[in-house]
Amino acid sequence: MNNIYLSQIKNFVGEQIELKGWIYNFRSSGSIIFLQFRDGTGVIQGVIIKKEVSEETFLKAKGVGLETSVILTGKVKAEPRSSSGYELLVTKIEIIQIPKEDYPISKKEHGPDFLLDNRHLWLRSQRQWAIQKIRDQLIHGIYDFYRTEGFTKIDTPIFTPNACEGTTTLFEVPYFEEKAYLSQSGQLYLEAAIASFAKVYDFSPVFRAEKSKTRRHLTEFWMNNSEMAFYDWQDNIHLQEKLVQYLLDQVLANCQEELKIVGRNLEPLKKIKPPYIQMTYSEAVKELHGLGSDIKEGEDFGNDDETILTKTHEKPIFVTHYPKEIKAFYMKESDDPKYVLCNDLLVPEGYGEMIGGSQREDNYDKLLQRVKDHKLNIEDFSWYLDLRKYGSVPHSGFGLGLERMIAWVCGLPHVRETIPFPRTIYRLKP
Ligand code: 4AD
Ligand code: MG
Repeated sequence: MNNIYLSQIKNFVGEQIELKGWIYNFRSSGSIIFLQFRDGTGVIQGVIIKKEVSEETFLKAKGVGLETSVILTGKVKAEPRSSSGYELLVTKIEIIQIPKEDYPISKKEHGPDFLLDNRHLWLRSQRQWAIQKIRDQLIHGIYDFYRTEGFTKIDTPIFTPNACEGTTTLFEVPYFEEKAYLSQSGQLYLEAAIASFAKVYDFSPVFRAEKSKTRRHLTEFWMNNSEMAFYDWQDNIHLQEKLVQYLLDQVLANCQEELKIVGRNLEPLKKIKPPYIQMTYSEAVKELHGLGSDIKEGEDFGNDDETILTKTHEKPIFVTHYPKEIKAFYMKESDDPKYVLCNDLLVPEGYGEMIGGSQREDNYDKLLQRVKDHKLNIEDFSWYLDLRKYGSVPHSGFGLGLERMIAWVCGLPHVRETIPFPRTIYRLKP
């Protein structure tokens, strides 16, 4: 079957075509009916003029409602006044299904809870369509980038015996006679893979039992981790900058229509070019004091701190050298052992952390001590410690949160719209 889609419409001007999809909106003024129609690739206005179609066709068109599924036949006309640039002069309409009940989502404003309860239907809205198309662009961009850079994709496990990012956000699941934890990040497994492939990445859902309700946190989200042998923390930062700029440029080049639908102001995004800003944690704390924060040296940034810091800079900020105490056990100490060779990447306009990365502790004895300091079970980490026994090398890596990037690029107030079916502390349905 050779379906024609609206994405190819420009090739069919003046021709009679058949389109399959859904009625998105409609209005009639006696002798003329306007149907907003979508087919999954775009939206077009169908026009049905009473005196130009059979009585049966006109009656069928009058009977459609929101979300009626239909096959439309008609002639494509260029129409510069319409947002798609085209119009369909409908000659025939075949009804596939008229909704059994009125469609619950209308043009009027709905509250977020109502929309999230109806996420399975809300996904059909143009705005949600545009966000998911941008998500799709970013996903493909991630794969393209790493292929070009010579990385190998390594699929890391979801069932794991141990924590990667601290034990407070672990999801525990029964695993036959044992307990397993859902992966918080594939990083540790990528560290194993570098000795075989040098530069590796993964891209998978990860899970965190985030008990707080913020605009930045989901309990299930998608992370791209990368790990590179013989990269120090600065090499790591350069790669992150290259990746983020590549993804941003791809979205700006390929998703103009989608960005317009979500109403994104493109000016702040267009201003972003390397080099990004780099500052140490201690410098950031000083700057935050100047901006009115009461954060104390040694404390982690709160959501508000990230917001105010990233609102005062136009470019993304690499914050480096966080205190060891507030970061993960695997990060390598800097010359001053109070700090670690890590970076977060905070993105502008208040969006805050989008990437976390670091150089890893590659010395066996020091890593063993860190595992002990963090009161982690040595047995569970014996395989990870092994990596420092056999051909250990300096290495670094990072993890990018896909939903944080989508929220920023689309200018969304909350990450819940970035993923088809969001999972948060209070939401497991639909
Ligand atoms: O900073 P995080 O915790 O770093 C790691 O997991 C490392 N193992 C990564 C690595 O070095 N390979 O998480 C990485 C990113 C964050 O910067 C953020 O973008 C995102 O994952 N993230 C979340 N996104 C949505 N909801 C949450 N609850 C998130 N927690 C982290
Ligand atoms: Mg982090």
